Amino acid sequence: MIKFSRLFNGIQNQIRYTKLYLTVPYSNQHILGIETSADDTGCAIVNNKGELLAESLHSQNLIHLRNGGIIPDVAQDLHRTYIKPIVSETLRKATMSMEDISAIAVTLKPGLPLSLVVGMKYAKHLARRFNKPIIPIHHMEAHALTARMYYNIPFPFLVLLISGGHCLLAVAQDVNHFQLLGQSIDSAPGEIFDKVARKMKLRNISEYSKISGGKAIELAASKATNPHMFKLPLPLAEYKDCNFSFNGLKTSVLLQLHRKEKQHEIIADKLIPEVNDLCAAMLMAASRHLIHRTQRAMEFCEKNNLIPESNKQLIVSGGVACNNYIFNALTMLCDETNYKIYRPPPKLCTDNGVMIAWNGLEKWRKGLDITTDIKTLDIEAVSPLDIAMRRAR
Ligand code: KG4
Ligand code: ZN
Repeated sequence: MIKFSRLFNGIQNQIRYTKLYLTVPYSNQHILGIETSADDTGCAIVNNKGELLAESLHSQNLIHLRNGGIIPDVAQDLHRTYIKPIVSETLRKATMSMEDISAIAVTLKPGLPLSLVVGMKYAKHLARRFNKPIIPIHHMEAHALTARMYYNIPFPFLVLLISGGHCLLAVAQDVNHFQLLGQSIDSAPGEIFDKVARKMKLRNISEYSKISGGKAIELAASKATNPHMFKLPLPLAEYKDCNFSFNGLKTSVLLQLHRKEKQHEIIADKLIPEVNDLCAAMLMAASRHLIHRTQRAMEFCEKNNLIPESNKQLIVSGGVACNNYIFNALTMLCDETNYKIYRPPPKLCTDNGVMIAWNGLEKWRKGLDITTDIKTLDIEAVSPLDIAMRRAR
């Protein structure tokens, strides 16, 4: 009974807002997006044409770099401090007030519960106060769709999401319909880059002291002179699926690092002299693995007719997609397989409010998941892409 009435309310809300959407003049529709799933407090406003009107971001990156990783309580405190100023700043930049906003899109899953809850509570507060609907957003779905804000990429397409928390391959069939082909069975690539960079003590070099581990490894790798001096394994080479594994690679790199530290009798905060070569070897091995699995996914799509010949497109996103070496390696694969490759502008590959506002707009245009029944909305720390999408359909 309860379930049925909820379902009915949901349908009622959806119909109401689909009608509202049809009656409000096209150019006057604005979606405000809020992102707080990890360590970035982001907000943005897009209009119905998909134009970005304003954005603001507070990154906690530096604080967590100092702490050696995200401490959830610290992240929550910072989100609480910045959420109101960041939303107000975004409205101010767009010369708008909440009255001008048609709906609030907010990340509800997946992510750190203590972080997610701050965005959700603030979105609910705004929705109640200004009588606006909410559009719940799946963080990974948002990463997958951002490139469509800049390029005409029709569905279906293949998507590779690589970040500090995720690594997956999926076919995006529609705005909230994804088919998961494979994912990491252990760590994400950004996670191992961050861990290895810490163990290498890269942030003791001032050039790398204020950037993420992944970015530091990319920069150090670009200075390598002999990357082939380190031999690293190709993970899951024997497995004919589309999954990833990065833990073995991390262990191999750390083993080589310890060997060199011993050999050079490295003490305290000093770095090994071959650090650039080891970074390059790691980056090459990670790229090889990403290419190997993406190629398998392309073959799987072809065998199962998941992507028509005319739609052979790969979108790469997530923080690790900022890496030019990885992107260039994937571009070479796409050249060979006749795929077109896209990635959002690098600053939109990492977490931000724009991707949430854009995903909100994609749902708004199709009348999907728009609700005023906000008390039923809640966060979910874990939410596999395809299951979340199937449930939402
Ligand atoms: O998408 P994102 O902002 O947050 C997550 O959802 O994880 O990604 C952050 C991750 C970090 O692990 C960071 O080290 C990595 O992206 N990253 C990079 C680069 N820039 C950021 N990894 C490799 N190369 C880069 N240039
Ligand atoms: Zn992310």
